[in-house]
Amino acid sequence: MSGEKRLAGRAAIVTGAARGIGLAIAGRLAREGASVMIGDLDVEVAAQAVADWDDDLSVAVHGLDVTKEEQVAEVVATAEERFGRLDILVNNAAILDMTAYEDLSLEAFHRVLSVNLDSVLTMTRAAVPAIERVGGGRILNIASIMGLRGAKDAIPYSTAKGGVINLTRCLACELAAKGITVNGIAPGFIDTRMARTPDGAHEHETELFQQFYLGHEKIPLVRAGLPDDVAGPALFFCSDDSRYVTGQTLLVDGGLSATF
Ligand SMILES: NC(=O)c1ccc[n+]([C@@H]2O[C@H](COP(=O)([O-])OP(=O)(O)OC[C@H]3O[C@@H](n4cnc5c(N)ncnc54)[C@H](O)[C@@H]3O)[C@@H](O)[C@H]2O)c1
Repeated sequence: MSGEKRLAGRAAIVTGAARGIGLAIAGRLAREGASVMIGDLDVEVAAQAVADWDDDLSVAVHGLDVTKEEQVAEVVATAEERFGRLDILVNNAAILDMTAYEDLSLEAFHRVLSVNLDSVLTMTRAAVPAIERVGGGRILNIASIMGLRGAKDAIPYSTAKGGVINLTRCLACELAAKGITVNGIAPGFIDTRMARTPDGAHEHETELFQQFYLGHEKIPLVRAGLPDDVAGPALFFCSDDSRYVTGQTLLVDGGLSATF
């Protein structure tokens, strides 16, 4: 029927959705009719972010640290109980760490892997039984172009994101028989809090970004992305339109990876 919302009747969890890309994805899924549970460390920020959303949207906020297995189990149980079902999981929560090689401790390395990679597995294993109960669904993992390339000062983050891309392929193989597709999105430069360096500077305002990436059209679309630029592809992977796609990671990078 024309005009019917694409995710009407579905329920989703989006991790790390208090702001940035996760918030944009949560909003898009909700506007397409899904009931959405936002799980994030920053409950207050999340609650403020959704406060002015249309009243007819079904959205809930739940405190979540994706590194704590009991909280992971709780957010899944709460979403299923509240919405009566769970169809979609978006593993988006992550932290950036650009510690120099010389200064990187093994502890810091493991911390990033725990938030950015281990959590994709724990969230997925917690959500799969609920998604199975509705006959199958969608899992979407937010990776990064940094998971496909090496860079200086990027060992923990890039290693974790590379892991997310191959974990996506492996989970796709494991979960296909349960009717669950598992795909990924690898964003390029997106204008969020993560684009700010610890000293407060904005990565997209640096000379390097302006001259190299924009001036020399290393990003063919000649701009940084916005969180909403990722939400459309995310909707595709969370909808029936992607039913015969699994194990794939789509680069949403303004064409950065298409050139050299
Ligand atoms: N912004 C970019 O340029 C860019 C590029 C490539 C990939 N990504 C990826 O996109 C995703 C979203 O990033 P963003 O740019 O919106 O970043 P962001 O920092 O704006 O948002 C990340 C969110 O994750 C939450 N979070 C962090 N640790 C958590 C934890 N342990 N448990 C629960 N929530 C936690 C934060 O509170 C925050 O709300 C991440 O996976 C990131 O790696 C971002």
